[in-house]
Amino acid sequence: MAFKELVFSGVQPTGNLHLGNYLGAITRFVALQARYDCIYCVVDMHAITVWQDPAELPKNTREVTAAFLACGIDPKRNIVFNQSQVAEHAELAWVFNCVARMGWLNRMTQFKEKAGKDRENASVGLYAYPTLMAADILAYRATHVPVGEDQKQHLELTRDIAQKFNNDFAVSIRDHGHGDVFFPLTEPLISGPATRVMSLRDGTKKMSKSDPSDYSRINLTDDADTIAQKIRKAKTDPEPLPSEPAGLKKRPEAENLLGIYAALADSTEEQALKQFAGAQFSTFKTALVDLAVAKLEPVAAEMKRLSADPGHVDEVLADGGARAQAIAAETMKAVKDIVGFVRR
Ligand code: TYM
Repeated sequence: MAFKELVFSGVQPTGNLHLGNYLGAITRFVALQARYDCIYCVVDMHAITVWQDPAELPKNTREVTAAFLACGIDPKRNIVFNQSQVAEHAELAWVFNCVARMGWLNRMTQFKEKAGKDRENASVGLYAYPTLMAADILAYRATHVPVGEDQKQHLELTRDIAQKFNNDFAVSIRDHGHGDVFFPLTEPLISGPATRVMSLRDGTKKMSKSDPSDYSRINLTDDADTIAQKIRKAKTDPEPLPSEPAGLKKRPEAENLLGIYAALADSTEEQALKQFAGAQFSTFKTALVDLAVAKLEPVAAEMKRLSADPGHVDEVLADGGARAQAIAAETMKAVKDIVGFVRR
């Protein structure tokens, strides 16, 4: 069966939106609007899988929404909302909890990283997180999901869940007039020079919201001086820049900064290296500061302007929530019939 092409993706409102989220996800979200209908979600239900201060969570939800808008996502042409406004995500996730196997979830590396050594003390939600992520996507029967490299395994699990649901309920799917398959096998969209932006302090560690050092990341709310300072202090090595990508092997910090430059310039590593072959890091960093500030300063300014108008942001979320729910409710009705739940 051919599914209508639809993009879905989500970002957690856990504070400190950074350059990795921006280059790996949000700028891609913006670009995809030209080709697809898109649904972008602030996943607050995912956020509470680890403790969130109830006084901070609404602020963080509005901040991610403001970042979406400031980067150029059009909430009229597409749908922007926060997850908890559409209860169907949780409802479908329960069905998926009964489709997914323990063995599948036991393999999820993100759970292992986030739970750390004290696994007994992790929330059940943190463990079941990937089934909710599958529900986010499949509640809309989305066909394409732009994400950074770190979400790849969760998208493979989403495909496994879709496939098992389609197989387990094949007869019922047909009997209820939904064709041969009900859920699409969603395609991950992971490409470009910044699918895995690394820490500015250690090129072998992912740039992350939870790194205790603020110098490890560039936050979307950083001002020009802070951006400049963080880039100037970023770890490098003593060699000049090479002329070919092969010369970046075993130089994780150089490779990371080059990738960031290429992504910000909307070009490729090869093109960036042509420009900087043989240059010292001091020269390259000056160019990187100029480019990063030129790209990020207007985003920070617009986010600030929007944060002064939470009423507008809340309207966007309410409007998006209602439109998202209309779609998810149809999917859920069909799922109830397929599974065999008696409904009104
Ligand atoms: P989250 O909130 O951790 O990150 C949001 C997006 O940013 C990408 N990303 C990065 N990309 C490149 N380099 C980095 N250092 C980097 N850090 C983060 C992530 O890959 C992601 O695309 N589980 C998801 C949220 C989610 C979701 C979904 C995504 C929930 N439901 C459905 C897609 C579809 C997460 O925790 O992303």
